[in-house]
Amino acid sequence: MVCRDELMAFPDQLISRGEVMDATVMHNMKIYHTISGMREVLGAERKAGKTVGFVPTMGNLHEGHLQLIRLARENCDVVVASIFVNPLQFGLNEDWEKYPRTFEDDVRKLAGEGCDCLFYPDENEIYPNGMADQTRVVVPTMTDILCGASRPGHFEGVTTVVSKLLHIVQPDKAIFGIKDFQQLAVIRRMVEDLCIPVDIVGAPIARDHDGLALSSRNSFLLDDERSQVKILYETLCWCREQIADGGRDFALLEELATEKLEKGGFRVDYVSIRNSKSLERAAHDDKEVTILGAMYASGARLIDNVSLDLGLSAAVEGQFNHVE
Ligand code: PAJ
Repeated sequence: MVCRDELMAFPDQLISRGEVMDATVMHNMKIYHTISGMREVLGAERKAGKTVGFVPTMGNLHEGHLQLIRLARENCDVVVASIFVNPLQFGLNEDWEKYPRTFEDDVRKLAGEGCDCLFYPDENEIYPNGMADQTRVVVPTMTDILCGASRPGHFEGVTTVVSKLLHIVQPDKAIFGIKDFQQLAVIRRMVEDLCIPVDIVGAPIARDHDGLALSSRNSFLLDDERSQVKILYETLCWCREQIADGGRDFALLEELATEKLEKGGFRVDYVSIRNSKSLERAAHDDKEVTILGAMYASGARLIDNVSLDLGLSAAVEGQFNHVE
């Protein structure tokens, strides 16, 4: 198994545990490769009355991911993370193969934050019948817009894998970043519609010093692009200020924001002002509004969003953490 080979590269940190066949330990954190291993250990924790917090990831962890781990640590007895670069959510021409894989570094970071267990399955463990024959979970309508419009099949891949992971881990709380605003909304809808007994928690966006939202794909940015891409966050903040100041011609604001990004040299996928809960186009009397943007740099597609609570008439980011 690929993951075992990777572990064997660090034999001094590898201790075979014995009590659960599948478990290995690195930096004091248990790593499981199989669903049965995860079930066994988490079943025992739940039996002992412990609550479980879960953070699903695709690895190449940065401060944004670690913030989610900290939230889980603060709110639950046992913290579980997963690393799985899910092929089902990548389009044919997308970057699954070159997606950065930094396993050893990730393990060190997770252990440093007090993560108890890492689920690190291979593709065969998650899709034993092959991807083509995998049962799918589809959240209709709200996955056809925004990122779903330019990445057909993406959200189906996300909801399918996240529902599998939630069934495997059966956490009390699962923590997701507001950075992927649409993903979070889609997952909330899936959990509600399928009656999955988990509390979905949203965590604020971790940003670099210039405002750029942290992302594993930022490493694909060319050096000269890196200093330019903060324009996405700046433009969304500009839109937010206009709305906070009373601007209600949303279509015009979207157009002006798009122009700003294009003048900055970027191809724009969308800038869109939406109702924060439904993701429908914002209406003039909406109380909670989110401005979402996606643009292409040469090395990566970047997404970001900022929210505005018009009910409080104050522009505050990240306050919709627990929108139900
Ligand atoms: P990934 O991109 O690795 O992100 C894992 C989690 O970290 C997601 O909930 C994402 O929203 C959050 N995250 C990423 N960057 C962040 C930032 N700058 N600030 C706050 N949170 C951030 O999202 C995925 O993986 C996958 O689609 C997954 C849900 C794991 C399903 O495969």
